[in-house]
Amino acid sequence: MQLFDTHAHLDFARFDRDRDEVIDRAKRAGLINILTVGADLSSSRRAIKLAKHYKGIVASVGLHPHDASQFDQEVAREIKELAQEEEVKAIGETGLDYHYDNSPREEQRKAFRSQLRLANMLNKPVIIHSREAEEDTLAILKEEAQNLPGVIHCYSSSSEMAQEVIALGFHLGFTGLLTFKNLSWLREIASQTPVDKILLETDCPYMAPEPKRGKRNEPAFVTHVAEVMADCHGIPVSELAEITTENGLELFALENQARLEG
Ligand code: NI
Repeated sequence: MQLFDTHAHLDFARFDRDRDEVIDRAKRAGLINILTVGADLSSSRRAIKLAKHYKGIVASVGLHPHDASQFDQEVAREIKELAQEEEVKAIGETGLDYHYDNSPREEQRKAFRSQLRLANMLNKPVIIHSREAEEDTLAILKEEAQNLPGVIHCYSSSSEMAQEVIALGFHLGFTGLLTFKNLSWLREIASQTPVDKILLETDCPYMAPEPKRGKRNEPAFVTHVAEVMADCHGIPVSELAEITTENGLELFALENQARLEG
């Protein structure tokens, strides 16, 4: 089985003690690549460093909506500079989070638009975080991202939103949320999503799937997401893994990328 964790935060301190073992377990679970996602400037720099150090790990660079109030010309310039590194395969995560509202909404929208324009300019896909901000996310995507490939990560919005973003050409990324017993509505959306639009991800160290719920998440646990997704589509997990991994390799242009070494 070949799997690809398309959204991990391997640079976070919670992996400092055992990062080598975490990556080794990922390899043994069948993962061939991991995309470690930048959340702010320092995390983006660390993501690139990890991608340079470990075969099969690639990076994205961006500023999370939680930290959008840090966004200014200088941050924009630095993201642009980091984005030119060859290990960087996407811009993000960026987007809107009106659940936590850690940054003022106007500043979130500004940072989001700017990163979408950068992705357009550099011809790189975008990784989008959207929580309780469907209307503004869609409006901004329609204005700024008409021909931009990308993924709505940790998908947890409505089925109407799913249809709209798929029509715009986006993929949906599904995490361990898919496995939570009380979220059957999300499995319903997953079942209705064409398999060629689905990416699997962990969002580790967060969002650990059943039966690891509540623990630190890690890339190897993407297998649990794959199993539930395979059930949603009534196909063998090996087939689901193959299709979704191919989706990710194509979206992030990793066909010729080195694979994970444990
Ligand atoms: Ni994330």
